[in-house]
Amino acid sequence: MCSGMIDPDLVAHALSRGADGVLGVGCHLGECHYLEGNYKANARSKAIKIVLENCGIDPNRFRMEWVSSAEAPRFVEVVSRFVADVKLLGPNPLRQIKAAVNE
Ligand code: FES
Repeated sequence: MCSGMIDPDLVAHALSRGADGVLGVGCHLGECHYLEGNYKANARSKAIKIVLENCGIDPNRFRMEWVSSAEAPRFVEVVSRFVADVKLLGPNPLRQIKAAVNE
C-alpha cells in the first residue's frame, strides 16, 4: 500500500526468478500518507541499487519513481519509459543462467 513497504527481498526475489526489471512507485516525497514511507523507500532503493551492482546485476533493472494517484498520464509515462529502458538492457541474465542450470 505504501512504498515504505517495498522490501529489498521482494526485489531480489523477482529478479532472481528472472524478472527483467522491477519498478517501485510511491507518492511524491513529502506526500506519504504514512509520513515517512517514501523516504524509507528512497533510502532502500539506493541500497538496493548498490547491492544489485555488487552482485553483477545492472542496477538499472530496479527503479523507484514518485507519482501521485492523481497523475495517471505521468504513471503511464513512467511505466512506459521503464519498460523501454529495461528492453534496452535485454533479458535478465539470471533467467538465462537459471534455464541453463535446469536443462
Ligand atoms: S502512502 Fe507512503 S508512499 Fe504513498
